[in-house]
Amino acid sequence: MTNTSVCFFLNGEKNTYTGNPSARLLDVLRGEYKLTGTKCGCKEGECGACSVIIDSKLHNSCLVAMGSINGSSVITIEGYSDTARFTVLDKAYASVSAVQCGFCIPGMILASECLLKTNPKPTEAEIREGISGNLCRCTGYNSIVKAIGIASGDADTELNISHVPDKPSMSLEEALILRKNTELIPYAGGTDLMVPENCHKKEYLFIGNIPELKQITQDDEYIRFGAACTFTEVINHELSPELLKEACRQIAAPAIRNAGTVGGNIGNGSAKADSALIFMVTDSKLRIMNADGERIIPLKDFYLGNKQLNISDDELIVEILMPKTCLDNYYYKKVGARNALSISRTSFAGILDIQNGIIKNFATAFGAVIDTIIRYEHIDKMFIGKTVNEARELKAEYLAKYDEEIVPRRGRVSVEYRKNVCMNLLNDFLTVMSI
Ligand code: FES
Ligand code: FES
Repeated sequence: MTNTSVCFFLNGEKNTYTGNPSARLLDVLRGEYKLTGTKCGCKEGECGACSVIIDSKLHNSCLVAMGSINGSSVITIEGYSDTARFTVLDKAYASVSAVQCGFCIPGMILASECLLKTNPKPTEAEIREGISGNLCRCTGYNSIVKAIGIASGDADTELNISHVPDKPSMSLEEALILRKNTELIPYAGGTDLMVPENCHKKEYLFIGNIPELKQITQDDEYIRFGAACTFTEVINHELSPELLKEACRQIAAPAIRNAGTVGGNIGNGSAKADSALIFMVTDSKLRIMNADGERIIPLKDFYLGNKQLNISDDELIVEILMPKTCLDNYYYKKVGARNALSISRTSFAGILDIQNGIIKNFATAFGAVIDTIIRYEHIDKMFIGKTVNEARELKAEYLAKYDEEIVPRRGRVSVEYRKNVCMNLLNDFLTVMSI
C-alpha cells in the first residue's frame, strides 16, 4: 500500500497524516493521536460509539478512510469538550442521570450536537431519530432523550472550533485516467467498502469530492443525480422526488446517510440497496464513463447477477438519470429489524400514474428477495393502458403471476417469510391504490 499525505483539521488544528490512505480514521485517532474518547464498538457503522463530526456532519469514524478526509475538519469529543456548547449538553445529561458506564456517551454527545445544530427545537421523535445510530447498552434511551430535550433550550452558542473545509478535489477527467491506468477501487462514502468483510487489499480512488459527481440537476427529460451525492444531500435537495427522499431517510441513521452515496448504493451491486430500488422502479438510467467516452444504459441492464455488474474496471458511474414522470402516487415499505439498521430484510416500491382514467404507468420493484432487485416489467405491463376497473378484474391473475415468479433465496430470514412479506406488500400496494 502506497503511503500518502493527508492534510486535515483535527479539533481546529492543522494536521498532516502520512500513512496508509485506506486506514480507518477511528484507528488513527485512537492509535496515532491518542484520542481515545472515540470508542470502537462494532467497526460496521451500527453502534455509533466511534462518532465524530466531519465538516459539521456526524460520521462513523470506523467507516472513514484517511484518504477521504483531505481538507476536512474533524472534531472528536476531546475537541468538542472544550466548547461552551459541550457544557450545555454535559449539564443536561448529568441533570437526568443519562450516563452509566459512559461508553456510548461521546458518540451520543456528538450526535446530540449535530441534531441540535440543524434542529434547535426537536420533537421527541426527532431526538430519537437523531440518535438512532447510537446504541446504549446500559442507561436506556429515555433519560438521554430527556437530556437532549433539556439542552435544546440552551444550545445556540457558536461552536468555536468549526472550520470551513477547503477540500482539494481531482477532476472527473483525472479520475477516469487513473481508473484506466491503475487498479484503484472507487470510494465515495465508504459505508460498504470499510465494513471489515468487504475491505479490499487494493487501494482506493477517492471520488467523493469530484464536483461533477456532486450535482443534482435536471433537463427536459430527467432529474440527474451525481453518483457521489450522499443520501443526506438527496434528501435536502428540492429536485429529489418524495419517493426517493423517503427511501433515503429510511436507509439508516444520520451518520450513514451523511456518508453513503446513491452511486455507491448501485455500484456495490446489492439487492438490498434502498435508493437503487427507487431508481429501478422509476426505470432510471445510468450514465457511465471511461477515459474514452460514455454510455447510457437502463439500470435494470446494469445488474447481471449476484454482484455481477455491467461495468468495466476502467469505468465510473457518473450520474443516475431519473425520468421526470409523475411520481406523486407511490408506495414504499422497508421491512427491517431496526429502523437505523442499514440492511433491509425485504423492501418494496410501487408507482401508479393514471391519466384521463387510464393507467399510464404502473411499476413495482422488490429489494432483498433474490440476488438482484426484482423488476418484473412483463407482469406490471398487464395493467398499463387499462382503467382501474379493468385492472381490478385482472388483479387475481396479476397476483398469481407474481406468486409464481418470486422465488426468494434464503438469507437472514427464511424463504417462506420473504415470500409472504413480498405478497403482502404487493397486495397492500394494490389495495392502497384502490385496485
Ligand atoms: Fe460501531 Fe463505528 S465502531 S459504528
Ligand atoms: Fe453505558 Fe450507554 S451508558 S453504553
